[in-house]
Amino acid sequence: MSESIEKSEWILIGQTAILLQEMQTSGFLKELDLNGHQIVLSYYDGQFGALNNKCNHMGAPLAKGILKKGCIECPWHYWQFDHKTGEAKNKSFEPLASHGGTVPHFPLKIEGDSLFIQLSQESLRQRPTYNAGSDLSREPQREPGPIRILGLSTTAMDKNHPRFSTSEELLKSALSKISNDDAVETKFLALSDLNFRHCEGFYSKSEKACTWPCSITKMDPADDMKHIYDNFVHWADVVIVSTPIRWGSASSLYYKMAERLNSIQNQITLKNRVLIKNKVAAFIITGGQDNIQAVAGQMLTFFGELGFVAPPFPLVGHSLGWSAEDMQHNMDYVKNSEYLHEQAVELIQRAVDLSKKMIN
Ligand code: FES
Repeated sequence: MSESIEKSEWILIGQTAILLQEMQTSGFLKELDLNGHQIVLSYYDGQFGALNNKCNHMGAPLAKGILKKGCIECPWHYWQFDHKTGEAKNKSFEPLASHGGTVPHFPLKIEGDSLFIQLSQESLRQRPTYNAGSDLSREPQREPGPIRILGLSTTAMDKNHPRFSTSEELLKSALSKISNDDAVETKFLALSDLNFRHCEGFYSKSEKACTWPCSITKMDPADDMKHIYDNFVHWADVVIVSTPIRWGSASSLYYKMAERLNSIQNQITLKNRVLIKNKVAAFIITGGQDNIQAVAGQMLTFFGELGFVAPPFPLVGHSLGWSAEDMQHNMDYVKNSEYLHEQAVELIQRAVDLSKKMIN
């Protein structure tokens, strides 16, 4: 069809009764490809609507969303747009944007029993207006200064009833010893002190739906993963992660965090953008039964996929054996073990040595 004909023409979409019958099985949303225009046709409260199929936020296909009270809810991050006018309607995009803008809409008319659309009269897209929001998105750049070491304990803990954690003990004590060195700066974080949400699996909808900064962090300013992101990507040169062994794996909190770190790794997949460069990761792993090497293998692989490198001998491990689960003695054993405490310090030292080589 020539452009001039398209300008003046109403294009037949179909017979209303047949369209409605089809749309009943898809929640009254239907994806149309008309002369190269990608459109989401909707029907609510006796009225058809036709919008450009591309969401105003990250471009998700709105036809894959849900029609809710006259609004199309985007399948990726839940922004909502009036199904006829395309105007952003609810607050789900805050604080990501102060307004979600307007998705282009198309005029429709019914003549007889048929529905027509005027493709040439697509309204203009009004882009969302973003708040300044998080500054996580800034380009990672190492600021001058001493080697920065983040100690991260992933032990799950009830804040009101704290208990002794062997892996955290080794980490904290090594950090405190090494902090006497003027050539380093240390910071300790316990995941159990942070309130952060589970990964909601946006990546599973589309790799483009998993964004940097993380969509959840952008949508929920109370989400504390921002501290992990900020330290991993922008602050730390060295990350030392401590974990207990839980049924042969790292702690559940570790995995909760790891799933959220997909937003860092996914930048490589999407944009060939490496957010973590010239950084070192090493591990302290303690538990009641032996599976240290399996836990370390998983952690080493995962942190390697994020962009970290490991020093020689990249972990300190300790466990009680399969047939000697006298855990009541384990805390005292670790507390009093000069060997384990020294090993933890040496681990950090090896990580710092490697970091110095990479930075200088
Ligand atoms: S809400 Fe539509 S792409 Fe994010």
